[in-house]
Amino acid sequence: MGRLDGKVCIVTGASAGIGRATAELFCREGAKVVAVARREDRLRDLAEECSELPGEIIWHAGDVGDPATAVNMVKKAVETFGKLDIAVNDAGIMDDNTAIADMSDTMLMETFRINTFGLMYGMREECRQYLAQGNGGVIVNICSVGATHQTSGAAYCASKGAVLAATKNTAFMYMEEGIRCNALSPGGVVTDIPLVMPPSDEFGFGRTSMLLNFSGELAMPEDLADAILFLASDQSRYVNGEELKCDGGWTCF
Ligand SMILES: NC(=O)c1ccc[n+]([C@@H]2O[C@H](COP(=O)([O-])OP(=O)(O)OC[C@H]3O[C@@H](n4cnc5c(N)ncnc54)[C@H](O)[C@@H]3O)[C@@H](O)[C@H]2O)c1
Repeated sequence: MGRLDGKVCIVTGASAGIGRATAELFCREGAKVVAVARREDRLRDLAEECSELPGEIIWHAGDVGDPATAVNMVKKAVETFGKLDIAVNDAGIMDDNTAIADMSDTMLMETFRINTFGLMYGMREECRQYLAQGNGGVIVNICSVGATHQTSGAAYCASKGAVLAATKNTAFMYMEEGIRCNALSPGGVVTDIPLVMPPSDEFGFGRTSMLLNFSGELAMPEDLADAILFLASDQSRYVNGEELKCDGGWTCF
């Protein structure tokens, strides 16, 4: 029996990295998954690759920074599978490691548009659906150790700090409605994210890269997916409003 048999899930950022590994693991565990990202071809490949697994994957292509994507992804889950049980808000980008004096307006706005506003648009629609259903639901927000430790630039770290605050606020607000909302903070993970990030600022990277001496071996996306499964499943039924760091001990210094 799968740990997510009968559960209907949304996973954003599912075309690559941690989100993709999570969508696949959830499908392996019996879930019906709506995979969300911008690149439709990659989502279609994911659905095809998982077609023999116990669960099912369908996709919704959209930019999470557009509030309509959140509305439409929840609508798709409900229209296709009749309900929503679990949402993993993973889609995110890195900044260019700039300290605040060198940070551009574009970098600040784009990082918050995707990492913070995009995630909160998702949470808003997910919570509206859970409240309408009346029997709770689960949210796992993919945050970062950068929320509390200075692993990136000002824009990225602040965008993830806001994710942590939104997570705790939502857990507190809706604890009596049965909505559990937790954050999972990865350390260093081998994904596409460095390939799509803008060129690093020399000063900022000089500061943040000092911390890499403490990071140890990088994780693989599957290492994160296992921890996300714990927060998504009933095994964590009394865990609410928490940040689970999954960084191999990096931030213990
Ligand atoms: N890789 C790391 O070392 C690391 C460390 C800490 C936190 N994180 C966080 O983990 C999450 C996943 O990152 P990853 O490393 O798997 O990166 P990745 O680049 O491999 O995957 C990111 C996913 O988000 C999607 N995405 C990006 N912008 C989007 C948008 N506007 N609309 C819809 N989808 C969008 C991408 O298409 C992709 O599917 C991010 O929130 C990131 O901040 C990653």
